[in-house]
Amino acid sequence: MSLVSERPCQEYPLDMIQRATDNFDESNLIGKGGFGKVYKGMLYSGWNMTVVAVKRLKPGSKQGVQQFHTEIKMLSMCRHSHLVTLMGYCKENEEMILVYEYMSRGNLAAQLFKFPNSGLRWEQRLNICIQAARALQYLHTGHSDMVIHLDVKCSNILLDENMNAKISDLGLSTIIPANQREALTTFVQGTRGYIDPHYRKSNKCSTQTDVYAFVVVLLELLTGTHVTSGRVIPDPDVTHLAKWIQQQISNGSLNQIIDQSIVHEIAPNCRNSFAKIISKSLQIDPSKRPLMSTVVAQLEDALAMQTGTNPSSSLVDGDLHGYFNRFDTTDTNSDDLDDHFNPFSTHTASHDPGEDFNIFSMHANANAETSDNHDSFNIFRLTSRLRTPVTDNWKSKCEFMLHQITFHTLVLYFLCTRHFHK
Ligand SMILES: Nc1ncnc2c1ncn2[C@@H]1O[C@H](COP(=O)(O)OP(=O)(O)OP(=O)(O)O)[C@@H](O)[C@H]1O
Ligand SMILES: [Mg+2]
Repeated sequence: MSLVSERPCQEYPLDMIQRATDNFDESNLIGKGGFGKVYKGMLYSGWNMTVVAVKRLKPGSKQGVQQFHTEIKMLSMCRHSHLVTLMGYCKENEEMILVYEYMSRGNLAAQLFKFPNSGLRWEQRLNICIQAARALQYLHTGHSDMVIHLDVKCSNILLDENMNAKISDLGLSTIIPANQREALTTFVQGTRGYIDPHYRKSNKCSTQTDVYAFVVVLLELLTGTHVTSGRVIPDPDVTHLAKWIQQQISNGSLNQIIDQSIVHEIAPNCRNSFAKIISKSLQIDPSKRPLMSTVVAQLEDALAMQTGTNPSSSLVDGDLHGYFNRFDTTDTNSDDLDDHFNPFSTHTASHDPGEDFNIFSMHANANAETSDNHDSFNIFRLTSRLRTPVTDNWKSKCEFMLHQITFHTLVLYFLCTRHFHK
């Protein structure tokens, strides 16, 4: 299907928008951006009331006029559960206004950077990036024409009351028609820190331009810092970010760049695969970066590793070494990305699997006394992840002991009966 307007959005009269926002009262202001101010509003239609976000173009913005039209065109054609819904627009007198569904938790940048320790847990961060990635995948592949967002960044990912993410702002987006399969030459636009270096140099953008920007968002989610703050992530204009993250991986210093409020929550194999996605997708050569569909699949795998629902994260295949290190802040050995530590292959020389469980218990208990809630949470999760193999070990041990008891009872019975017969 090529991109033709499927459901043109509604046109609202200006007086309806004025009523909805108390005539753009500052008390309803919820944000400000390059386009203009954003207000919270209540749209009334009969007995129905809908909460909306109203984005009002600031006067005199030429770039804004173009964005206004692109936004209406794109969001009328592209509808996805993780793309913000444009409910309508208003173009009256000098006013140009966009009306969106209201996302009560605002943008991801505010959640992440303005309120550090705001409680965005690692699993929530993973869910947010998977949802945003799905929306981008839809833009890239949902129609025969490809849509490139060109302004992917944390402040363009909005969150609803359940922390579900939606991509917003398609005002800078562009279409690569179905019959044109190579990159499109345009003037460079986007936001500093997120712009693909290849695009900046060549003026050629493609779906891989969005992959780069999106992965900068992943890096921000991992480090809890803004790409341009210079606090953890080096300036992408002067540093090859892919090489930098690869260095952190091979030096075993990944944990030092991770947001300290979540570092103890991340399962090592999840952390490693997340870092791998980042380093691959930040490569300068766009053809070496994975497609968005691959990024989605890899992020889903990473989530499964985190939650323990993936077979590759079971005790046998997973990185138990990393799990031990989770309680050891020096964590020196678990950063080798391709190193999948098999606890049985190295421990069986001196311990049987049952003893491995005891070793783990000692680590967990020793640390539980001094750890905070996150560690207790990890211990709980780890115990539950270990449950299957441990239960099996104990089951076989019990069965063996039962056999032994039965055998010895029979021997005893045999000897006794012979003795009394004499
Ligand atoms: N649908 C919405 N629901 C709730 N809040 C919104 C909505 N749309 C925008 N906002 C808020 O308004 C802020 C300003 O939005 P806007 O898209 O104009 O600028 P920005 O993306 O923050 O920055 P820039 O103009 O550089 O792209 C957002 O960051 C967000 O907090
Ligand atoms: Mg925005």
